[in-house]
Amino acid sequence: MNNDTLQLLQSRRSVLSKNLSTPGPNKSELETLLNIACRVPDHRKLEPWRFIVIQGDHRKALGQSFCKIRQQECELTSEQIQAEQNRYTHAPTVIVVVFSPVEHKTPVFEQLLSCGAVCQHINLASSALGYSSQWVTNWCSFNKDAQKVLGLAAHESIAGFFHIGTAKCPPKERSRPDLIDKVVYYQS
Ligand SMILES: Cc1cc2nc3c(=O)[nH]c(=O)nc-3n(C[C@H](O)[C@H](O)[C@H](O)COP(=O)(O)O)c2cc1C
Repeated sequence: MNNDTLQLLQSRRSVLSKNLSTPGPNKSELETLLNIACRVPDHRKLEPWRFIVIQGDHRKALGQSFCKIRQQECELTSEQIQAEQNRYTHAPTVIVVVFSPVEHKTPVFEQLLSCGAVCQHINLASSALGYSSQWVTNWCSFNKDAQKVLGLAAHESIAGFFHIGTAKCPPKERSRPDLIDKVVYYQS
């Protein structure tokens, strides 16, 4: 039994992106993290995902681009403008997981599940490396203009933005389902 792994799985929590700061993964840790992300069940080895890594000044620039898109759609208060522009500036690294389905006999649903596994591997690998993370979609994931800014093809979509860094304060525990509500034992 690997108690360290069990302990990590039983205790890990997401940390809100605004509560993340430096340090984040270095170059070699990031490579480790992305390799772990790719090590997921993948029916017929289609690899229906790819990554966009956002770091440094590009984080602020992306928030500013997205903010302009948002302002064309709705009126924002100065506080909301600030929040939009700083959306990606808290954690030192943000990884966009792009769902990139392949035309194939393997159903898109299965490809999506595989991409979801990639996403949670990013959370788990971040914890294992000693960092915290949050999986966020928000409006930007579903907005066509925002997708264009990130260079997505028409058939692609955003599975999530992963904010990765160090927690400024420890997250509180979150309630989890009672197994009695979730599990039945099949009886023939
Ligand atoms: C697909 C997906 C999208 C999410 N999008 C958001 C989001 O836009 N904003 C947000 O605050 N939390 C979002 N969450 C929730 C957090 O990532 C996280 O699940 C929640 O804070 C509790 O995490 P924990 O159980 O890992 O501690 C999303 C979760 C998933 C699975």
